[in-house]
Order: sequence, then structure tokens, then C-alpha cells
Amino acid sequence: EKGGWSSFMAKEVSEEPEAVANTLRGRLHEGAVTIPELDGLDDLFAGINRIIVIACGTAAYAGMVGKYALEQWTRVPVDVELAHEFRYRDPVIGPDTLVVSISQSGETMDTLMAVKFARERGAKTLSICNTQGATIPRESDAIVYTHAGPEVAVASTKAFVAQITALYLLALHVGRVRGALSDAASVEAVRELEAVPAKIVRVLEKEQAHIEQFARWMGDTQSVLFLGRHVGYPIALEGALKLKEISYIHAEGFAAGELKHGPIALVEPGQAVFVIVPSPRHSAELHKKVVSNIQEIRARGARVIAVAEEGDAAVLPFADEVLRIPLAGALFEPLLAVVPLHIFAMGLATAKGLDVDQPRNLAKSVTVE
Ligand code: M6R
Repeated sequence: EKGGWSSFMAKEVSEEPEAVANTLRGRLHEGAVTIPELDGLDDLFAGINRIIVIACGTAAYAGMVGKYALEQWTRVPVDVELAHEFRYRDPVIGPDTLVVSISQSGETMDTLMAVKFARERGAKTLSICNTQGATIPRESDAIVYTHAGPEVAVASTKAFVAQITALYLLALHVGRVRGALSDAASVEAVRELEAVPAKIVRVLEKEQAHIEQFARWMGDTQSVLFLGRHVGYPIALEGALKLKEISYIHAEGFAAGELKHGPIALVEPGQAVFVIVPSPRHSAELHKKVVSNIQEIRARGARVIAVAEEGDAAVLPFADEVLRIPLAGALFEPLLAVVPLHIFAMGLATAKGLDVDQPRNLAKSVTVE
């Protein structure tokens, strides 16, 4: 039930903090991760030399974020691939490959068929899923459930942050099993994870009304671009997907570094561009590069909406709007930066008088190929 909210999507965005908190619950102890569902699988995790993450849509973007953490904490090479592409090629996989599928519904046909395909070729399979007892987890060797609660709106929001959370837990677990993760790094990551729910609450409290007002003002916009770098890149893709799904306008996400390789040709006066700005505290170099991207598009007349951490003043002279997120570790910023983009997509669709829960032509769960 919507319980007083104007839409399921509004309710589900408001539940993003709980989606993370509930996915963490019972899985963190004294600076380390314990996932009871993975007990007895240490040999499996020790025996792999490659991870392939497969999923569709928003779940695939969660996978792209997860790749950074999986590689950093496990030192196992990771590829992320769309499930429907993966199963129609001839991938090099075998018993030392772990195929991690991500699916909110656990019923997406493309993802299910890719999991079966991976199993037939001898790979190990692990399902990250939000729906207890769904088909994909039943077809997998191992399961890590997300606990986002039922997601009703077609546009996935709280499941996305829960999927990233589950991937991080998995990465920390596998990293420890393989001896690739130091105690200090584990303690630090756990501390960051525990802080995420309250930081999302802060984004909602401080920015939601501002973003909704801003989205109303943008009601006639025909096209929006999203730029991000590093873990901000998949967030740019997610921001664009959400906008096209529910507001039916042209939206595209790009890696900020690609700008000069093509997309900057799209920038003309008035073009709205969201830019996810990485914290200067983690990498002065990356931050500088993204700020200079902002200057480049601004010089061509773009309307720049920066998503930047609190206190980052470098963006102020060049941005038309700044949406703030609290300070967090580099890998944890995506869990915060996505929230303004979810609110914006919802705000723009609402301003256009559209049904945000049931967008045209889309189904919540795509059970056909
Ligand atoms: O249930 P799944 O997570 O497998 O669904 C995957 C995609 O169909 C889904 O994320 C879709 O892209 C959403 N409508 C995005 O908001």
C-alpha cells in the first residue's frame, strides 16, 4: 500500500535508507562481514579466478558500481555484462568463473537464461535478488538476498541501493575469504556502510524539496545529459535511464572522459547536463578533470546541475544548480549521488502529469526475452 504517499515510487525513494540498513542488518560484526547464507562456500570463493556480473537495466548499473569494490577488495578480475548479450556469445567461462547475477524480481527472463547458460558451461553462480524464493536464486549455487522490501513502481529505486550494498558485502566477504582484504580496510568499509542510511536520510531531508521545485521549473526540458566518472559513471547511466523511463524525454549518460570523444558535440546553449562530481578528498586529479569538463560544457552554454559533496566550492562558479551529498568514502558516494537523480526523475515526470508508477510500454518484471 502507498500509505499516504502520492505514488509507490515516492514511497520507495523515501525507503532507500531502510533498503540499505535492512540489507546490512545481521551481516556486520565488529568491523567484519558475515553472511550466514554463504557459510560453507569458502572453497568456492577461494577457487575462482574471475567474476562476471550479469544483469539488465538498473541492476546492471548496480553491477557496474559493484565492479570497483569487487576488484578493490577481492583482487579478482571482474567483468560486467548485460545478460542478454552474455548468453548469445561464446564466453570463456568454466569452473573457476563465478557468475554473479543481479535481479530485483528474480524472474527476468534474460538474466535467468544467462544464469542457466553459465551453469551449463560449468561456472559457479551466485544470485543477488530481492525476492525470496524467486526462480533465479533457485537456479543458483549461492544467494545473497537484498532486503529492500517489495518494490512496486516499475522504475527501480530502493532495490538499486540495496543491490550495491549487497555487492559490497559480497566483495568484503570474498576479499576476507581469499586473504585479499586487510583488517583495517574491512573495518573502514564497514564503518562507511553503516553510515550510509543516515546520509541518505540527510540527502532526502536537505535536497528533496529543492530538487522537486527545480524539476517543476525544468518541466519543458526536451533532453538531459548525465556525466560521471569512475563510480559516478554508472550513476550517470542510472540517472538517464530513470528519466527516460518515467518522463519520456531524451536522456543519455556518458563517462565524463568521453566528452571530447563525441558527446560534447551535443552541447548547445540551454542543454541541461547533470554532472556527478567526485570528491576532491579522494582524488584531486579526478575532481579537477570533472570540474574542467563542467567549464568546457558551460563555455558552450550548457545549464549545469552539479551533484557534489558538501563543501566542494570549486563547482560553484560554473554550476547553475548544486545538489549536495554528504561526505563519504570514494566507493560509497554512488549510494548518495543516485538519490538526487531518482528524486529529479520523479519530480520531472510528476511535473509533466505522468503516472510515475506505471510508465507506458514497460513492465515491472520482464519475463519474456
Ligand atoms: O527485476 P530485475 O532487477 O531483473 O529487472 C531488471 C530491469 O528490467 C530493471 O532494472 C529495469 O531496468 C527498471 N525498470 C529500471 O528502473
